[in-house]
Amino acid sequence: MALSVRGSMMTVMTENNALLSPAAYVEAVTTALAASAAYYGDGSTPLGDDEYDGLLRAITAYEEAHPDEVLAESPTGKVAGGAVQGDVPHSVPMLSLDNVFDAGELTEWAAGLERRLGHPVAGWCVEPKLDGLAVAARYRGGRLVQVLTRGDGLAGEDITHAADAVLGLPPVLTKPIDVELRGEVLLTTAQFEEANRIRLTHEATPFAHPRSGAAGTLRAKDRPYRIELTFFAYSAIGLDDLGHLALLENLAALGANTAASTAAAPMRCETVEQVQERIDVIAGLRADLPFGIDGVVVKADTAEDQRQAGNGSRAPRWAVARKLAAEHKVTRLLAVEWNVGRTGIIAPRAVLEPVVIDGVTVTYATLHNPSDITRRGLMIGDQVFVYRAGDVIPRVEAPLVDQRTGAESPIVFPEACPRCGDAIDTSEQRWRCVRGRSCQAVASVIYAAGRDQLDIEGLGGTRAIQLVEAGLVRDVADLFTLTREQLLGLERMGETSAANLLAAIETARGAALNRVFCALGVRGTGRTMSRRIAAHFGSMAAIRAADAEALAEVDGIGTEKARIIAAELVELAPLLDKLQAQQVGTQVTEPQKPPTDASDASDATGATVGEASAGGPLAGQAVVVTGSMTGPLAVLSRNEMNELIERAGGKASSSVSKRTTLVVAGEKAGSKRTKAEELGIRILDPEEFAVLVAEFLPAP
Ligand code: IVH
Repeated sequence: MALSVRGSMMTVMTENNALLSPAAYVEAVTTALAASAAYYGDGSTPLGDDEYDGLLRAITAYEEAHPDEVLAESPTGKVAGGAVQGDVPHSVPMLSLDNVFDAGELTEWAAGLERRLGHPVAGWCVEPKLDGLAVAARYRGGRLVQVLTRGDGLAGEDITHAADAVLGLPPVLTKPIDVELRGEVLLTTAQFEEANRIRLTHEATPFAHPRSGAAGTLRAKDRPYRIELTFFAYSAIGLDDLGHLALLENLAALGANTAASTAAAPMRCETVEQVQERIDVIAGLRADLPFGIDGVVVKADTAEDQRQAGNGSRAPRWAVARKLAAEHKVTRLLAVEWNVGRTGIIAPRAVLEPVVIDGVTVTYATLHNPSDITRRGLMIGDQVFVYRAGDVIPRVEAPLVDQRTGAESPIVFPEACPRCGDAIDTSEQRWRCVRGRSCQAVASVIYAAGRDQLDIEGLGGTRAIQLVEAGLVRDVADLFTLTREQLLGLERMGETSAANLLAAIETARGAALNRVFCALGVRGTGRTMSRRIAAHFGSMAAIRAADAEALAEVDGIGTEKARIIAAELVELAPLLDKLQAQQVGTQVTEPQKPPTDASDASDATGATVGEASAGGPLAGQAVVVTGSMTGPLAVLSRNEMNELIERAGGKASSSVSKRTTLVVAGEKAGSKRTKAEELGIRILDPEEFAVLVAEFLPAP
């Protein structure tokens, strides 16, 4: 069914989303009805939220232009698109919200409301639009007696049986009153993951999306397992005459969970400009919130403004949803590629029919590991849910099993290493070539010579391949024994190139410990972690002497990662011996951090990198760099910026928190800058910062 829903939507709309004929209009209405029946039924979204909204806008536009052709069953102007009905009448209709899609539409909407009121709105409340299902919870004498879904807004389904699995929806309120709480029930990200873990152990298909998981869970009656959900209250019947923020406070005091407990807490704004700013802040926080939001709700705050504006049949006139682009989209899984990483890990990657998610075209997504593919039951040709938020690497969540056509084919797992053809070690979840990192000698050498590692100029891809294929280099240590004669024996290598390469390698011999360590490509460590490890232990000998317990003391290394790093160090012992014999990484040690109280070693997100040295213009500062650097800093990679901060006595961190004291914001700085402004943190542009740390800048 849903496949045809997607297909037909494509055919009825022109490129600029207009419906051109009565037939196209009828088809669009049918499509929208089928999609909203699925959405409000089992929570699936065969169209994706953005497409559904687009279709509805096209239908509305057509109806405005052709008022005499409007179909009775049209979804416009109806709660839940007219898709669902329930059997328990609501005390007061459960309304939906009108939508606006950008700042201009919001300004227009606010102006319209103020025209209707005949005076400015006396204050706004801005809060997250929680991406779950609306419910009404009835309390008598403070005891929960009934929970209903929204249904068609006039009557809903009784889901009281599900109430005890809903966190934040107390069985007993703190006061013995009669009241009906209204709000949203959802699966937080952690609950969604836990739910899918539980379902897999019961051989049930994983939920494709947190909302469909919440919808299914609220309705399910005889499951042999329990899945926890979360309730957020945002309105009530029986606590009248309160402004919205005051109402939320009362709801929390009664024991219900509200969005006030989250980073995107409801906030009062006096002007529409402030409302827009708060929307931007909430949108910026979205990726870090522990639950999904699909927009931001703007409400007139005072009871008086709300009463005066009143309600329409579908939505209140005093509130509106500013929709945000969907983070989940449905697309087709075209193929699975198997790539061998630097350390010999063989990782599957999904090739997708390109899909735009929040302005970014996604063509590839991570699939984690083979057992993950099996658990999710994915097949080539499946319609799949793809998730992407902020900087997160897109991932394939789950197939839409009921949309299969029979043309799907199984995903074929490799039987031999796709790079070298040797056997695969499948004993761990992540498959690995039995040759480990030597399968990838070329990639390892290129990585080690990279700018943020040993920074060996002239050792790019072609040269590395030449050196490995000529048998001169099997690992990074071999670089340091290369001779002029050996190099001159290579094709396209003249005297000058050979001399330059040897000089660059010689310089690398004296590279800082953190760079040498990073060059090893230890699993679970990148640039940041390498700097932390180097700063923590101070010398390669101390790192090698560290066991898992000692490694776990490094900021940001948990016990599991410590175990992996310790095992890697054992495996790398021959390479480390070779490097030591060549005096690589032994000449320069790192200033060890002074013993400090562990609590000040990391910021709230644990994202501290490196340690501050005493003195310097940045002494005592926690610095975050965001956006692209200009002026004298333009040439520095992010890693080099962080090294600069640490040289100048500061602490470099990757995310803005309360502990951040300075943000260097370059061009196209995004949510980090917004967050810094929000927290009142000092912000410098790259040029100002360059002046501050001038004496620590690398020589040009
Ligand atoms: S207020 C009369 N506030 O979004 C009040 N709704 O698309 C109407 N929703 O039906 C609802 N977060 O299920 C309100 N902070 C919030 C919300 C919210 C999510 C849902 C609610 C509503 C739907 C409309």
